[in-house]
Amino acid sequence: MIHLQFSSYGKVYCLLTAQEAKDIVKEDPSIYTSKLKSEQGRIKVEALIVENLIKKYEDVQVLKGIDMSIKEGEFYALMGPNGSGKTTLVSIIASITPPTSGEVKVYGYDITDGAEEARRLIGYLPGENFSSPLLSGEENLMYFAQLWGLPKSEARNLTHELLARVGLPAEGKKRVSHYSSGMKRRLELATILFPGMKILILDEPVTGLDPSARKEFLGLLREINKKGATIFLITHIGEDAEIASRVGLIDEGKLIVEGKPGELKKNSGLSSVVSVRLGLKNREILASLGSFGRDGKVLEVEDGYRVYCKDAEEAAPRILKALGALGYEPSRVGIEKPSLEDVFFALTRKPVRGGV
Ligand SMILES: Nc1ncnc2c1ncn2[C@@H]1O[C@H](COP(=O)(O)OP(=O)(O)O)[C@@H](O)[C@H]1O
Ligand SMILES: [Mg+2]
Repeated sequence: MIHLQFSSYGKVYCLLTAQEAKDIVKEDPSIYTSKLKSEQGRIKVEALIVENLIKKYEDVQVLKGIDMSIKEGEFYALMGPNGSGKTTLVSIIASITPPTSGEVKVYGYDITDGAEEARRLIGYLPGENFSSPLLSGEENLMYFAQLWGLPKSEARNLTHELLARVGLPAEGKKRVSHYSSGMKRRLELATILFPGMKILILDEPVTGLDPSARKEFLGLLREINKKGATIFLITHIGEDAEIASRVGLIDEGKLIVEGKPGELKKNSGLSSVVSVRLGLKNREILASLGSFGRDGKVLEVEDGYRVYCKDAEEAAPRILKALGALGYEPSRVGIEKPSLEDVFFALTRKPVRGGV
């Protein structure tokens, strides 16, 4: 039996073969106008499709033809260094910045022709705080819920429900100026959980939060994703991207690779890493470590160096010895598995954050 349900967003729930679904879409392209794929007989809807997206500022091309798609329910992380075009990309998707050329479709709605519908489906959390410090958490949420078009009584009920959902059930009456950075971010997260918001785009939401607040926030995101929301997380930190089901790496306005975190690491050709913690950094140390890295691969990071070796266990004691001979004493030399930041370095020869 074929069961179809079309919501106002053009979403398709169905038990159909890919061909049957294609035929339906052919009859009425407004229902859903993206590449359909059948996975175990179930059609997964493309929540977002970006095609050959280009953005120029004057004569500088900051997005050089981005092609990507995100399926409904995915947790996608886009990772890249500062200035690589992440914010430009998501602000185009959220209809804040116009593209120079290319296409963006949100559940089949074009962000130019169907901008109103597309906008209603997106919850966009910008990098900077935007809640009003003089208002309470509740008042902030009431304000945004009403801007979203909810009647007052509905907004009130929702506000209480959302405060509980983001872990602030007892803090609603407090002024936001008394909130910690983590609480503020969680309150703001609630403004992208309003009814109808199905793709949640978060631009570096945890930058500046302490490790425990970060963990709490990312844990919430994972929970929200499990309940069905599609997540598009922007980050320049590998550890944050690890929690995603799929990761894209962006550099200089180009998407260089996409895949599951495990796959990316496996395909990177990196076998193991010796991490050297050292307060001091100079050319002599870099050259010495370079002789241990495969093809001289060494990355300078915040607290020292990462040396990409064929056999880290064998190399680690030799590294310690070589540095000792030069008069350097690392506070720690450890053997680690490659991270997503290592993958980025292997592909671009550039660090995703900090470094040289
Ligand atoms: N309004 C603008 N005018 C000119 N250049 C811009 C503007 N916004 C961003 N850029 C440039 O576009 C590039 C990408 O920026 P951005 O998308 O903010 O990168 P990211 O979010 O990855 O750090 C940078 O070189 C930045 O200077
Ligand atoms: Mg940015």
